[in-house]
This record gives sequence, C-alpha cells and structure tokens, in this order.
Amino acid sequence: MVVVAIDGPSGSGKSSVSKAVARRLGLAYLDTGAMYRAATVWCLDRGEDLTDQHAVAHAVRVMPLVMGLDPAAPGVELDGRDVAAAIRTTEVTAAVSAVATNLDVRSELRRRQRQIIEAEREGGFAGGRGIVAEGRDITTVVAPDADARVLLTANEEARLRRRSLEVHGAADATAVEATKDQVLRRDRDDATVSQFHVAADGVVTVDSSELDFDQTVAAVLDVVAQ
Ligand code: CDP
Repeated sequence: MVVVAIDGPSGSGKSSVSKAVARRLGLAYLDTGAMYRAATVWCLDRGEDLTDQHAVAHAVRVMPLVMGLDPAAPGVELDGRDVAAAIRTTEVTAAVSAVATNLDVRSELRRRQRQIIEAEREGGFAGGRGIVAEGRDITTVVAPDADARVLLTANEEARLRRRSLEVHGAADATAVEATKDQVLRRDRDDATVSQFHVAADGVVTVDSSELDFDQTVAAVLDVVAQ
C-alpha cells in the first residue's frame, strides 16, 4: 500500500497531475478539494448562512457524501445525486473558502479523508495498492506519514494563466485579469488555515512554472520512486 500526498495552490496543476500519477501507478485518487466544494453545495442548497459556524458544521456532519476514487472518472455524489458539475460553478468557487476555513468542517472532512485512505489499505478501489490524495493540507495534516509527499507550486503568472484557461477557455490579458482577484483572494483566505505555499519538513517541492504537463507528471513520479 502506497500513499502519495500532493498539496498545492490553485492553478498549480495539482488535480490533473495527481490523476495522471494515480493512473500511471494503478492507484485510487482522492480530490479533497471536491469534498470542500461538495460541502459548500450542500450548505447552499439547504439555505445555510455560511457565516453561521455552528449551523454549517452541523450540516457538514450529516452530509451524505460519496467520493468516487477512479482517477479516470472521479465522481462526487451528494445524497445519491451526481454533483461533479455543480461543485465547479463560480458561485461555489467564490463561497468555498468560507466553508473550508470553518475549523469544525475541517476536522469532519479530514476524519472522512483519513477513513477513505484507510479503506484503501483494506482493498478499496485499487485493491490495496494505494492512493493519491491531493489538496492543501494532505502532506501536513491528513497524511503526514505518506510514503511520498509533494508540494506542487508554480509562479503566479503560470497559475493565473492555467486557471484562466480552465475557467474562461482563454488566457489573454482580459481573461487572466478576470481570474486574478478571485484566485488571489481565495489563496489568502485558504492560507489562514492551511500551509500550502511553503513545503513542510520532508515534503519535496516540484515547481511546475517552466514544466509542461508530462514533465510535471514525470517529476512527481520521480519523487514517488525515490
Ligand atoms: O479549484 P482549485 O484547484 O483551486 O481548488 P480545489 O482543490 O478544488 O479546492 C477548493 C477549495 O477547497 C480551496 O480553495 C480550499 O478552500 C478548500 N480546500 C481545503 O481547504 N483543504 C483541502 N485539503 C482541499 C481544498
């Protein structure tokens, strides 16, 4: 059983690289950001006031969330409903940090994340081979004893360009500018609860600013092989 933990900010290429690494190694894949996004959808659908810490924490504790761990087609189900698209709307992206900075929400989702990782040990999706888990606090809090721990970074320019391509399908100056405020504000908010801009002890930094996708995947596979 191998556990690969990958953290990084928005636009670092974390999700696509993590999925590719999981596919190459025949491992399960856990997108923890999708769990915070699903929690946000759940709270918004229930009409919770996101500034009400107790109400939000309670809602998340009873959230019927099922994560699909196939890196070729990772799924997110909320109460039996496929919410893979609903978790990516701009409304959810703008609201997710408010939910993710709730410390009771974090402890509930971290508990579920550890449970999912443990279930892989017993067989799970990848038959006991292991899992790639990605997010912002996986190398430090969720799985600090992972076999390989990577912080995937990229300079601001590269991150904004990638994020802009993802959201607007373009990376011209106007599209990048439209993405900038939201990305930087989310970075700032998220940084109040997770350390994902600097590598903790024993965590290997892979800077993808000057690397293309395949080179980044190869660099992460190198860390896993070490
Ligand atoms: O869309 P992007 O790749 O930037 O982010 P994501 O990985 O989908 O994560 C969405 C949000 O979930 C982040 O902005 C954080 O607020 C939160 N998150 C977190 O707090 N801890 C994690 N381990 C993963 C995500």
